[in-house]
Amino acid sequence: MIDKNVHPLIEIRNLVAKYGETTVLQDISVDIHPNEITVILGGSGCGKTTLLKNILRLYEPFSGSVKYWGEEVTAMDEKDFNDKVLKRIGMLFQGGALLNSLPIRENVSIPLEQHTILPQDIMDRIIRTKLHLVNLDHALNLLPSELSGGMKKRAALARAIVLDPDILFCDEPSAGLDPLTALSLDELILNLKAQLNMTIIVVTHELSSIHRIADKIIFLDGGKMLFTGTLEAAKASGIKAIDTFFNAEIKSK
Ligand SMILES: Nc1ncnc2c1ncn2[C@@H]1O[C@H](COP(=O)(O)OP(=O)(O)OP(=O)(O)O)[C@@H](O)[C@H]1O
Ligand SMILES: [Mg+2]
Repeated sequence: MIDKNVHPLIEIRNLVAKYGETTVLQDISVDIHPNEITVILGGSGCGKTTLLKNILRLYEPFSGSVKYWGEEVTAMDEKDFNDKVLKRIGMLFQGGALLNSLPIRENVSIPLEQHTILPQDIMDRIIRTKLHLVNLDHALNLLPSELSGGMKKRAALARAIVLDPDILFCDEPSAGLDPLTALSLDELILNLKAQLNMTIIVVTHELSSIHRIADKIIFLDGGKMLFTGTLEAAKASGIKAIDTFFNAEIKSK
């Protein structure tokens, strides 16, 4: 199932993730290819967020290998990982994770302050550009509590892309949004891929989003990877859990 034709940007081999004694992901091997949108699918609690957090080393994998740009990162010290990988990555957390006490301007500024030594006026210009990109020019000085759910997601997206990352991770970007807002967020994600050449990894349950944005999917079930490949190939795979997932989504519409 591993595509050998294009050099992958992220290579995950035999990844095992645990919380304490509990194994949550077993033996995951998958490639993420450049300038593609990879969608991670699977039922609630199957380990999607855990997979993202292990790839990002927010949790250390129990065992296995994770390579970015061909370089193994599981043994890298924190500073190396920060300099070589984290600086080039943006993350939109499930729920947005904006800091409620800070205005949007300061929320979006956090990665710039952590990873750069740019002068304030340049930072301000970058922040305004990113807020413009997500259609939130007017939100610069508002607090997160003054934004709607969809606006919060877009503000969190502005923060995730403020360093012009090569790779963007999005955990359930359109969950809880109305269909039109979800559509505009998908269009933003497609633009980031097309215009800024980003490689994007998205966790979502939304069937319409999956159809709009996915170049490849990774299907997880009970901590195992059942399938990776195109959506069409997934649907033609005859794998029962995948059929059930898509049928359940259709029935719930
Ligand atoms: N910090 C943690 N400590 C212990 N167990 C955890 C922790 N985070 C998640 N889990 C458990 O690991 C399993 C996978 O959780 P995870 O959040 O990765 O699922 P998910 O696929 O992202 O679900 P959802 O679609 O609901 O977001 C669940 O059984 C969950 O209870
Ligand atoms: Mg999750």
